Amino acid sequence: MKKLKTTLLCLIAGTVLQTSAQNMNPIYLDNNQPVEKRVEDALSRMPMEEKVELCHAQSKFSSHGVPRLGIPEIWMSDGPHGVREEILWDSWSAAGWTNDSCTAYPALTCLAATFNPELSHAYGVAIGEEARYRRKDILLGPGVNIYRTPMNGRNFEYMGEDPYLASQMVVPYIQGVQQNGVSACVKHFALNNQEEWRGHINVNLSDRALHEIYLPAFKAAVEEGHVWSIMGSYNQLRGEHCCHNDLLLNKILKGNWKFDGVVVTDWGGAHDTKQAALNGLDIEMGSYTNGLSSKAKFGYEDYYLAKPFLALLKTGEVPVSVLNDKASRILRLIFRTAMMPNRPYGRFVCPDHSSTALKVAEEGIVLLKNDRQFFPVPTGKYQKIAVIGENATRSVTEGGGSSTLKVKYEVSPLEGLVARYGKEHIVYSMGYASGPSLYDREEPSKMNTDSLFNAAVETAKNADVVCFIGGLNKNHFQDAEGGDRKSYGLPFGQDKLIEAILKVNKNVAVILISGNAVAMPWVKDVPAIVQAWYLGSEGGNAIANVLCGETNPSGKLPFSFPVKLEDNAAHSFGKLSYPGDSINEYYKEDILVGYRWFDTKKIKPQFAFGYGLSYTTFEYGKIATDKKTYSPDEAIRVSFTLKNTGKVDGAEAVQVYTSQPKASVMRPEKELKAFKKVFLKAGETQTVEMEIKVKDLAFYNEATQSWTVEPGEFVLCNASSSADVKSKVAIQVQ
Ligand code: BGC
Repeated sequence: MKKLKTTLLCLIAGTVLQTSAQNMNPIYLDNNQPVEKRVEDALSRMPMEEKVELCHAQSKFSSHGVPRLGIPEIWMSDGPHGVREEILWDSWSAAGWTNDSCTAYPALTCLAATFNPELSHAYGVAIGEEARYRRKDILLGPGVNIYRTPMNGRNFEYMGEDPYLASQMVVPYIQGVQQNGVSACVKHFALNNQEEWRGHINVNLSDRALHEIYLPAFKAAVEEGHVWSIMGSYNQLRGEHCCHNDLLLNKILKGNWKFDGVVVTDWGGAHDTKQAALNGLDIEMGSYTNGLSSKAKFGYEDYYLAKPFLALLKTGEVPVSVLNDKASRILRLIFRTAMMPNRPYGRFVCPDHSSTALKVAEEGIVLLKNDRQFFPVPTGKYQKIAVIGENATRSVTEGGGSSTLKVKYEVSPLEGLVARYGKEHIVYSMGYASGPSLYDREEPSKMNTDSLFNAAVETAKNADVVCFIGGLNKNHFQDAEGGDRKSYGLPFGQDKLIEAILKVNKNVAVILISGNAVAMPWVKDVPAIVQAWYLGSEGGNAIANVLCGETNPSGKLPFSFPVKLEDNAAHSFGKLSYPGDSINEYYKEDILVGYRWFDTKKIKPQFAFGYGLSYTTFEYGKIATDKKTYSPDEAIRVSFTLKNTGKVDGAEAVQVYTSQPKASVMRPEKELKAFKKVFLKAGETQTVEMEIKVKDLAFYNEATQSWTVEPGEFVLCNASSSADVKSKVAIQVQ
């Protein structure tokens, strides 16, 4: 009897306990718990099979959650300068939704050209809001592969040739995106510096070049931006594909930099289960998958990190700790994004986003040449302005590969100019035509090119002034993913057309829409040149504002423009250096990329890194430092005055470069170590102050595999571009 009573009491107590436990949120669902506890708790509830599910795609742009536990799937979207349209679950065709037309922001070369990290933050916030509104957990960008050659079809998606500039610009972008509860995904890690043979080309380079040039922006993204995910690249480094590369992912990224986020493959970038398992990959995504049936070849369940991975875990060939690490990282990302406490809701296509897009576009446009004060052209100055060139009307938000956008609106340059100057003052002629399809090559279009050409020359003859709006476009073999450019010159006969126009009208400005440098055989003959990038939804308005003088241009080039291709470092070493022999490629220029090469080798570029004109002029005072001698853990405080000596307000991106004249290793002529965008009213003077940490003067020491600051003299200079040094000061490091 007594026994029965005790049993009954125990049963009742058990039920009470159970009920209260059921009412209590499990730790992983409890928003008040730290992320690490939630990860640990969720992981403890999952069998091996569920953990493996997390590690691979379930559709083109999503990966599994844990349905049984209510842990959501991960939804991803391209790309760096706008949130891509929805595509079908399992094909690259558009899904045909009507609510997914986004704001297009300027491409990242333009963002880098602003030299304005605050604007990069605003950009990140805005695009992050759009991604959040569209219910994305990962935005597949930004890209920070270094601009090594003007032939790379994807340079427009990246932030230029200088590791310091790219680092300073990528960090605030990431922070802006992630404050929305959306993960940025920095790509493509690493050395995806060309599209030619991108799927397999094996990059060989020195440790110094790797650490000093190609990794710093990724390192900053991890250590300062605290980015939650990173995308591996298609190419190989030292014989191993970068999506499962022991050196890059295990040793450097997760080891040295202590990255606690998720490594996502580039689409189809995994090639082997054991390597994918052991060499640092976390989520495998794919391009050519029929994921609807696991019987199909490459169905999602047959991915390297799906069933084959499970099999290796079951036989013990891959330890379970490897799986737990991957699953923890993926859960951490989900708790940081989809399951983030108080996650904001985002916004989509709103006036604020348009004004951010406009501001970036205006601040990124670079005035390259402006003889006889050609620009600004105020309204009413000329009766007839001829606008010539296909890029005046062509959409440049569409195309280019994965960064292609379906936009709510895009103001073309012609529309912007007509709105500004009045349609009675603008006459348009196309002049040349590229192929109508995005996949057409460099061949001329089927349109009658002679009559286009002649009509344009005729239009130019009868105008007061000509704005030639050309450049590249987002077709294959232009500024586009999956192929490199075929020639450095402008395509579609544009050079010939410019020369012909110049014969009938000397008042010609060339406005280039591109993400890359181009040859400019007419450079001396045209009075004005503007680099206008891919500017996004507000492109035409930004161009009109700059040309008419409402906005004073302040963009600076984030990469050098060589006169000819052979002047570029990578190209000067021949085919093995670029594009390689189809198997291997050797970065023979080593650390001398971009202006580091031009300066050190005393080759004059057409336009230098950091260069850009304004409608006003600036006078730089002499650079000074707070002390003469520094120890390695100190910061150097640099100052100089900057005066706006012209008649209009303006902004100048001032730059500080450093060099070490006597070092035990080769050091570049100079390297960018600080910059600041300074806004000055006409006539105003400011004292500009900047800080450079002595440890940032280090070189990567291959012998010790670490960063070394060698004591001795360093020279600091203030400059308005890498080719225009204003003054110098020497300091000693002890
Ligand atoms: C590109 C990535 C992109 C992915 C998804 C790949 O081909 O290299 O940058 O994010 O596709 O569209």
